[in-house]
Amino acid sequence: MPPQHLKKYKAYPTVDLLDRQWPNRRITEAPIWCSVDLRDGNQALSTPMNIEQKLTMFTLLVEIGFKEIEVGFPSASQLEFDFIRTLIEKKLIPDDVTIQVLTQAREHLIVRSMDSLRGAKRAVVHMYNSTSPAQREIVFGKTKDEIKAIAVEGTRLIKSLAEQMGDTEIGYEYSPESFTATELDYALEICQAVIDTWHPTTDHPIVINLPSTVELSTPNIYADRIEWFGRHIKPREAIIISVHTHNDRGCAVAAAELAVMGGAQRVEGALFGNGERSGNMDLLTMALNLYAQGVDCKLNLSNMPHIAEVYQQCTGMDIHPRHPWVGDLVYTAFSGSHQDAIQKGLKHHAEHPRDYWDVPYIPIEPSDIGRTFEGVIRINSQSGKGGVSYILEKEVGIQIPKWMQPDFGLAVQKISDSTRRELQPSEIHDAFDRTYLLNDNLLKKYKIVSGSSTTSLEAEVVIDGRPVAFNAEGNGPVDAFIAGVAQVAGVHVAVTNYAEHALTKGADAQAIAFVEVIANGRVVYGAGSDPNISAASIKAVVSAINRI
Ligand code: KIV
Ligand code: ZN
Repeated sequence: MPPQHLKKYKAYPTVDLLDRQWPNRRITEAPIWCSVDLRDGNQALSTPMNIEQKLTMFTLLVEIGFKEIEVGFPSASQLEFDFIRTLIEKKLIPDDVTIQVLTQAREHLIVRSMDSLRGAKRAVVHMYNSTSPAQREIVFGKTKDEIKAIAVEGTRLIKSLAEQMGDTEIGYEYSPESFTATELDYALEICQAVIDTWHPTTDHPIVINLPSTVELSTPNIYADRIEWFGRHIKPREAIIISVHTHNDRGCAVAAAELAVMGGAQRVEGALFGNGERSGNMDLLTMALNLYAQGVDCKLNLSNMPHIAEVYQQCTGMDIHPRHPWVGDLVYTAFSGSHQDAIQKGLKHHAEHPRDYWDVPYIPIEPSDIGRTFEGVIRINSQSGKGGVSYILEKEVGIQIPKWMQPDFGLAVQKISDSTRRELQPSEIHDAFDRTYLLNDNLLKKYKIVSGSSTTSLEAEVVIDGRPVAFNAEGNGPVDAFIAGVAQVAGVHVAVTNYAEHALTKGADAQAIAFVEVIANGRVVYGAGSDPNISAASIKAVVSAINRI
């Protein structure tokens, strides 16, 4: 980008708020959530949802636990209008859920929007008009006072129509659209005029929504603006300050979080951050951010695979595999050092149950959101011995001792290097069998006779492709075997490490033995499996010798 292009852009103004309080605050409870999936999210889709998809999405939002749902823009199309009528006429809105509709501040659109709500128990009318200099001057050609008059007139009309809605209780939300590009004092002035027209009370508060229609600054400046606004707007106790952030700079969630620290009580957003341009604020990320800090997010996200599936089916949008908290790959490690730490962390967690979760690289327990440890560790050429051993233990219960893990890790790495792709758990198991256990079959026959002080062994074995048979003695079966092999095959073996464990329980219980041996001056590893533990040990030595 040529440097002269930089002249086209200017820095965003800061807020004069030296005693800002938000940096020292924590979020200790969930804000009031409002989903705008069916309006802002929907209007950003190349193919907007049809009525059936909107109904499915509405059901999902209710299941998740949203109590405020912006269901559409009824004056924008017949489909939008009909969807809202369907919700109301088919009585699909639970008593504790409030629907809301968006309207521009124009008389016929307001009237049509109010009409869409007839018969609902309770609903919020959300009116907006654009307030930034570019919108005022270029788009509408109006002065500040004229723009303010539009907001006030629209509010007055909604107020009078609300009084004629019979049993339908109407709440009101006002948004100075393009708030982030609007002079802060002017945004305050226009919102104050709206509030003074509506006359909210503590029992019937107004929602003032301060959208980051386009994200133009770092989140700290947005938080400053929210805190400043909250200090000046009146009567504060009758106003719910809401934020609605977009993700142009990639900080929509951070901006909403800091805004809540700055005093916002309500947050609008969409599932998986769907929405215009780079999206709306992702409700799931913000909720799980709270959850991961031990704060009740007041949403039920325990079946994330279901949420993801319904979302994709309704919107036709993909979910990035690295999407925070929920992407397919976010609970997966390919890198060796990560795998090692995760494996140790999980083992430690299982062996030392504690009240809190502390597993490296996995900030929440995946099962909390319906994910499993399936695939937490996956194997490619970047993976380490720890990950490979973890998979083998999970897949078939084989616990390779620590001292043998590098040997098997290397064997697996050779395969993934040559295939240049991820290896499936069954392929890791296969690699173990081919590396060690197929060699143990080379013990063709054996007979152990244990005496009081020595063991004698009669064996027939294939070593280096050559069948050999012998009778030998030692102070145990392995010792006798080693002595025999030295006599008849001239292979001199010393066992330097040994481990064994049971593989399965019950009638066909198998044992598996692992050995590290020095054979003819080289360190080699072997494994053997057999229902008889002595045979498994001998097979492990055979396996090692045949790997020299
Ligand atoms: O982003 C925005 O400003 C909006 C308003 C209509 C609230 O979606
Ligand atoms: Zn928006």
